[in-house]
Amino acid sequence: MTLVDQWVERVKRMIATMRSVMRFRPIELDPVVRRLARAADVSDLRRLARRRLPRGVFDYIDGGAEDEVTLAANTDAFRRIEFRPRVLRDVGNVDPSTTLLGRPLPFPLVLAPTGFPRSVHPDGDIATARAAARAGIPYTLSTLGTYSIEEVADAAPTGTHWFQVYVWRDRGLLKEMITRAGAAGFEALVLTVDTARLGRRERDVRRGFTMPPKLGIGTLVDGALHPGWTWQFLRAEPIRFANVVGRGVGDGTDAVSVADYINHQFDPSLSWRDVDWLRGVWDGPIVIKGIQTVDDARIAADTGVEAIALSNHGGRQLDSAPVPIELVEPVAQAVGDRVEIICDGGVRRGGDILKAVARGARACMAGRVHLYGLAAGGERGIDHVLHMLDRDVRRTMALIGAATMKDVSRDLVS
Ligand SMILES: Cc1cc2nc3c(=O)[nH]c(=O)nc-3n(C[C@H](O)[C@H](O)[C@H](O)COP(=O)(O)O)c2cc1C
Repeated sequence: MTLVDQWVERVKRMIATMRSVMRFRPIELDPVVRRLARAADVSDLRRLARRRLPRGVFDYIDGGAEDEVTLAANTDAFRRIEFRPRVLRDVGNVDPSTTLLGRPLPFPLVLAPTGFPRSVHPDGDIATARAAARAGIPYTLSTLGTYSIEEVADAAPTGTHWFQVYVWRDRGLLKEMITRAGAAGFEALVLTVDTARLGRRERDVRRGFTMPPKLGIGTLVDGALHPGWTWQFLRAEPIRFANVVGRGVGDGTDAVSVADYINHQFDPSLSWRDVDWLRGVWDGPIVIKGIQTVDDARIAADTGVEAIALSNHGGRQLDSAPVPIELVEPVAQAVGDRVEIICDGGVRRGGDILKAVARGARACMAGRVHLYGLAAGGERGIDHVLHMLDRDVRRTMALIGAATMKDVSRDLVS
């Protein structure tokens, strides 16, 4: 073999070796798909949301009340809980389905109500309702939603929709909304009770966050730094409180501070008597959201509501409030099966959902996860986060030795 032949052989071998280890991904032209493909968990979606949204909007969805002690505690509490995995338990077929309010649920999650989702993405509530319908889980539309009850029902006709109410000073308007929700096929009413006054969200105060967003010099600069969001925002219809349009401040005709609007509308004289009133105007299941003590959980069970959501509003109301996951077990012991328990706040992974179920919850609610998904990739961003959570739940069930939700028992967590 000549010297040249030897060189040719060597180069051929090198190319063969390189080919065996090199792999090029096909080039993805769709920027949303590209972005989401790299988001491995909820914190990646949060980072994308932070990059894409003007700071005022990001802080509105991400922030909590006052020192944000409760906001941090909600997620930290989940991290502190350890699994006690069992092995050799045949997890060849894992089934994460369960039931909630008498209806089947593919995995134990409900999308929590969030106000003003169109500030995050023009498709807002509709995108979330559609993604929830595809995943087969309920979506809760907020009274402070930015699409109407009817628009959400039309956009996701196969979905399970719940409607969240605050008790408005104007009971006539409240009754009207409840009747509309019933007529549009909404299945449950969620009464939020932790909002006698709006919590002080100091990030909103610092940024002067208003709804609809007001254009000042700061907002213009922020908008210029986030052209994708600004372009979408300027092309879309003005943001409005779609379910209360034409009923006083905040109907989309003037920019008001969120706190002013809400404090003007909420009725702080709300009491347990109002739950009876609600029963009189709504035939379906009622969920009381915002229960924060065992005593109130007992009273709620006595009123005969179908479910309670243990919740501190994602740390956005009372700071230093009890953490929902820590309440699940004592509440479950106190109320038994008289009322279903939903754990709301701090869920960032499928494993968190299983920790809550192991302690006695029927399901979890989550708010920020779908908002981060919406900000990161619109409707596809929410699909992405729901797939991630579903896969997390299935994988974690296999790893802790639970083939069904019935197997997710108290002894599987610390
Ligand atoms: C931006 C934002 C808006 C919210 N708006 C409402 C609302 O209109 N009604 C309500 O009952 N809860 C509202 N919540 C609270 C959520 O329903 C839920 O309790 C909370 O997000 C749970 O905590 P998590 O975000 O850690 O999952 C809101 C939460 C966020 C983050």
